[in-house]
Amino acid sequence: MRIGICGLGTVGFGVLTLIAKNAEEIRRKTGFVIEIAQVGNRNADPLGLNRQIEVASAKGDTWHISTQFTSDIFDVVRNPDVDVVLELIGGTDVALKLVTEAIRNRKHVVTANKALIAMHGDEIFAQAAAAGVQVRFEAAIAGGIPIVKSIREGLAANRIAWLVGIINGTTNYILTEMEQAGTNLRFEDVLKEAQQLGYAEADPTFDVEGIDAAHKLTILSSIAFGTPLQFAAVYTEGISGITSEDIRYADELGYRIRHLGIARKSENGVELRVHPALIRKEEMLAQVNGVMNAVMVASDSAGRTMYYGAGAGAGPTASAVVADVIDIARSEGSTGIANLGFTPKDIQALPVVAIEEIACPCYLRFSVLDQPGVMAQLSTVLSQHDISIEALIQKDAHGGNAEIVIVTNEVIEKSINASIVEIEALSVVQGDVTRIRIADLHE
Ligand code: HSE
Repeated sequence: MRIGICGLGTVGFGVLTLIAKNAEEIRRKTGFVIEIAQVGNRNADPLGLNRQIEVASAKGDTWHISTQFTSDIFDVVRNPDVDVVLELIGGTDVALKLVTEAIRNRKHVVTANKALIAMHGDEIFAQAAAAGVQVRFEAAIAGGIPIVKSIREGLAANRIAWLVGIINGTTNYILTEMEQAGTNLRFEDVLKEAQQLGYAEADPTFDVEGIDAAHKLTILSSIAFGTPLQFAAVYTEGISGITSEDIRYADELGYRIRHLGIARKSENGVELRVHPALIRKEEMLAQVNGVMNAVMVASDSAGRTMYYGAGAGAGPTASAVVADVIDIARSEGSTGIANLGFTPKDIQALPVVAIEEIACPCYLRFSVLDQPGVMAQLSTVLSQHDISIEALIQKDAHGGNAEIVIVTNEVIEKSINASIVEIEALSVVQGDVTRIRIADLHE
């Protein structure tokens, strides 16, 4: 199995290191040795064109890998000695051209690029099917967690009802740091720390505003439900509105706040949404801290299963990339497993349920003037929208204001939106209402 690597960043080096470190273990498992036919890196040659790459493990062991080196990544996809192209450059424009040309040249492709698959996967898969090559993307979602394999293969006999995941390590790190450090941490400072850990995307708004999670959710939902990739239809909300106060009140009410990707089949189609949510502390997902990722899947035969692990980083991502290379080699001569786990002719679009039609309990927080009759006015608004209060906290007045936190029963989004508009219009209410949805992990 001769591979060509395009992109020599964290993941590229991780792949080289893993192949060097575990060459014998991989040979024992598969009967073959992975040969690195060529390495391409767009930028100036970081290796001095000496045709030898030195890689080192975390323990300090070093290996020297001899290969061809090129500063034009397109050489790799044209190289007749390359059987599998590893697209590890990220981005979507050049990556799409690269993958398209690799497929045209009848090379299998392994990619860690979630944006590429979420936005262009359908056309890439069609090209690959026509060319008789495989495209694999385990590393694109949740790094070292074999979530694609688990859903596509391990749960192949099931109907999936829903999946809920913490699929962005940067936002999870920010939220859990804010949770553990109490009120004194500023969002911007924690983001800087996450960037220093090397988890954040080149443009960290992709993490913070939920775009990265939406890319990953797009792919997971298509694998779960056999639908085309519908990135543009994912409702996407980030974590920049979450404050330490919300985290503290959530704690008081028995919840933690996590940034979730949710895909759920309903009578009206499929819900596809990425947003922060309160989740009961006793749920396993609420115990996923720091940069870790986890995905819970509800399926009709296996029941609930959960997958947990590192969602990024050189080692975990390389683990997924090299496993894909191994799968391609093991299934050489066949078409391999269908990209989305469903036969392509059976991929069927389902309507995406508008966010206004989604029902979930909600957390509301706002300030009111500390005077008689406030609760009566609030109750009137909520009852007019058929919303009942499950829990309520009122904190002592400061400077004439009191802070009110309400947890509602399950309510349709458009009703809660209408009631928020009315609450904000009450003269006793000061400023905006903060609303955070509550994750309901029912079947
Ligand atoms: N920026 C991503 C994260 C990296 O924070 O999870 C892995 O896709």
